[in-house]
Amino acid sequence: MTAMQNVKLGAYYSVHLPEPDDFDFWRDRARQLIQCDVPPDRVSWIEPGGTSDLFAQDGPSRSKQRLPVPDVDARPVRANRRFLSVAKNAALHSDAERFALLYRLLWRLQANPKLMEDKSDLDVRRVEELDKNVRRDSHKMHAFVRFRLVESDEDEAQDHYIAWFEPEHHIVRANAGFFIRRFANMKWSILTPKGCLHWDTKALSESPPAERSDAPSGDPTEDLWRKYYASTFNPARLKVGAMVKEMPKKYWANLPEASLIPELVAGAQKRESQMVSDGARDFEERPDTLAAIATGIHHCRKCPIGQLDNHAVMGEGPHDATLMIVGEQPGDQEDQAGRPFVGPAGQLLDRHLEAAGIDRTAAYVTNAVKHFKFVQRGKLRLHQSPTAKEIDTCRWWLESERAIVQPKLILALGASAARGMLGKTVSISKARGAPLPLEDGSELWITAHPSYLLRLDGDAAVQQARLFAADLAAVKKRLEELAA
Ligand code: URA
Repeated sequence: MTAMQNVKLGAYYSVHLPEPDDFDFWRDRARQLIQCDVPPDRVSWIEPGGTSDLFAQDGPSRSKQRLPVPDVDARPVRANRRFLSVAKNAALHSDAERFALLYRLLWRLQANPKLMEDKSDLDVRRVEELDKNVRRDSHKMHAFVRFRLVESDEDEAQDHYIAWFEPEHHIVRANAGFFIRRFANMKWSILTPKGCLHWDTKALSESPPAERSDAPSGDPTEDLWRKYYASTFNPARLKVGAMVKEMPKKYWANLPEASLIPELVAGAQKRESQMVSDGARDFEERPDTLAAIATGIHHCRKCPIGQLDNHAVMGEGPHDATLMIVGEQPGDQEDQAGRPFVGPAGQLLDRHLEAAGIDRTAAYVTNAVKHFKFVQRGKLRLHQSPTAKEIDTCRWWLESERAIVQPKLILALGASAARGMLGKTVSISKARGAPLPLEDGSELWITAHPSYLLRLDGDAAVQQARLFAADLAAVKKRLEELAA
């Protein structure tokens, strides 16, 4: 029997998805139906609890049929990378028509492989809009999930943190990996009206949708969040319109730090001018050896980071290196090892340096801020970005290292390193890719921080890794020119 014989004349098919976010299930059934030449207007896609099974109600000729089976030699289904990447996200949208739209597009792609490039096509525009909405919702989830401590399990000596979040789309399961990577050693649950995730530090489990009242509404860690927010809040970067766009008021109820916003905004301008004058503070005489700097940073308490339970991490590498690499600040592992860039970000950096042909051991590697800034949560020490003021205070040490090493080329990794070098905030995307001449004749190259790459997923991760590799390749080329 051929596929065409398999498809009953005029038959309509209903596909019941087991989960609203089951893209793989949709893809398998869609391929099967396309291989059997079932046109889009003969298929109804029904998600759990869905009521759009129009065909099933429409009399005997429209009753549900078993899906046809394609011939073994049926022609393969064509789907290009662009389609797959937007379709995976669009499948998570809450629009009940999304699977029908995806099927229609996949069907049309068979005859027109360039369809996704047609930006005036209504189906293409719609799927791109769904993709964008879903990416935005995921971004909000990454940014606005706030865990609250609920119980200490005495048997396991493990604190349990619970967060409440209301996604607009079916993004919860798709984002589990992000939270597992970020909070791997923490026992946590994320409760949402679209299903819940639970991580016990080893395995992920799921449970049915929850209600807001199932989640705790306040705990001692909220003060920590408020302190964290107040200390990372950078008045120099404040843009009120952009902030409300990025942190819509709908999420404020879940965010302990939101109560600080009006006050911080009001004081922002005053704090910025204070920051600038404080930046030019009085250290003693500039040290003239790297050993003296190492001793100096060990005793430095000029900013609150030096007062935490941490160790100063000195730069390392040849004292006359041509290349200086500047990071933000030591992380947990660097603090323990007493060396810069030995943790996950350092390992990623090493791989990229090697791929670009840059010898790390020939570079002087250091940080804009010499101590690890963190907030203690149970047994964890969670990284906190240094404030502009803290970076400006620590510039004294970075400038002292530069004065001794006198590198010809400095590579700043991320916004904090760039600020440490320039004393002002710059946009990485605008500054990257070309050298900035410095007053002593050396040049500054700015790129992203490897930790930023570690936080990305999917296409964004691939795209940013490419940009990072291109920046390092440009630095390598420039080093060769300088050596010639
Ligand atoms: N991130 C940095 O910026 N520096 C380090 O040393 C480690 C991680």
